[in-house]
Amino acid sequence: MPVTTATRQRCASCGQEFPDTDPHPRCPRCQGLLEVRHAAPPVTGAALRALFDGRWGVRAGPHASGVWRFTEIVAPAASHEILTYPEGNTPLLARPAVSEWAGTAGLLLKHEGLNPTGSFKDRGMTVGVTQARRIGATAVACASTGNTGASLAAYAALAGLPALVVVPKGQVAVGKLAQALAYGARTLVVRGNFDRCLELVDEASRELGVYLLNSINPFRLEGQKTIVLETLQQLGWEPPDWILVPAGNLGNTAAFGKALTEAREWGLIARLPRLAAIQAAGAAPFAASFRDGFKRRHRVEPHTVATAINIGNPASHDRAARAIQETGGVVTAVSDDEILEAKAVVDAGGVGCEPASAAAVAGARQLVREGVIRPADRVVAVLTGHLLKDPAAVTRYHAETEPPPPRANRPVEIEPRLSEIERELRACQTT
Ligand code: F0G
Repeated sequence: MPVTTATRQRCASCGQEFPDTDPHPRCPRCQGLLEVRHAAPPVTGAALRALFDGRWGVRAGPHASGVWRFTEIVAPAASHEILTYPEGNTPLLARPAVSEWAGTAGLLLKHEGLNPTGSFKDRGMTVGVTQARRIGATAVACASTGNTGASLAAYAALAGLPALVVVPKGQVAVGKLAQALAYGARTLVVRGNFDRCLELVDEASRELGVYLLNSINPFRLEGQKTIVLETLQQLGWEPPDWILVPAGNLGNTAAFGKALTEAREWGLIARLPRLAAIQAAGAAPFAASFRDGFKRRHRVEPHTVATAINIGNPASHDRAARAIQETGGVVTAVSDDEILEAKAVVDAGGVGCEPASAAAVAGARQLVREGVIRPADRVVAVLTGHLLKDPAAVTRYHAETEPPPPRANRPVEIEPRLSEIERELRACQTT
């Protein structure tokens, strides 16, 4: 079924509209953030659902991607230039041990760590790098706490485009830094935090013409909408009560809000789930803004073990605030200890995720305890990144922290004797 739509970019601050091929990462008039606006698809919600469902299981071509399956409401104008790994098609998992710990039987885990470079960033990057090619960009760049950089490096390699990845020194997990280097991006280690790195690449994109692929880029957010779209599809288009997402620079929170309001407007779903954005307590400016009723924007000097979300001045604050308001959502913060305990539970459930992702699960437990999420609610927590992104966090927790945290699984050093194996076998059979 042919579905045609017209797409524009619109400045969220001054309302000015631009063609979807305008290369500016921000409004050229007022520097406000741009958003992609698609015309409403000229078919019913049921027809759209049938179109997307008909592509499920396709194994070749762009529709094999869990992003490009939704082309008509993500990037309708992209065609022959689509650059896909492919990505998406991540599982929605029920794990009783995790549900029990969180106190909500209906908890499902959307495991975005199973994307090609190990995080949800690939969903935005396939659209962002496709757009970079479409507008004839000659180089791409991003600031990153690690995952965006890893993803950009991989997709730039696919596109044959030179890439700059700008990261804060000493604050990026080893797996992520390794990926940026291995995929061949020029990796710049800045003596400053992530917020400073972002200011720097923002300036570089204005002054040096390099195409910016941080999540302020509205095409990235179009791709990230598909985390929600795919989840809804996996649930037979019956929305859950809650979607929980770890929140740092707030691109995902903004993308989720846009996905949900569009999905309702275009008849894909009949009602909106509530969004819950979960921050680390040491990097929680958005939670502070929420407590203020979003009357003012907060900034903090961030410090959390979850380096992916170690962000003090989130770029997508305003559009994420809109997402929370439009979905009747909440924002909360969880401590580093709670994040690490949640991570140990997710990991020991055989699922595994990086620390920032576990914030969503820790947030589920907190919101259940506060009575915000009711025990019978259907809850989806998004695991944003893979366990192996941050192996140092795992060894610190299990092997190096004194005294051992409650769920530490200490390695046991033994002599090379069968009797020692036997003793350990008994020990693990009795615990
Ligand atoms: N979880 C992971 C694993 C992340 O890498 C990020 C962000 C987030 C959650 C937060 O998402 O920024 O959209 O609110 N990582 C960015 C990066 C900042 O550079 O990789 P957000």
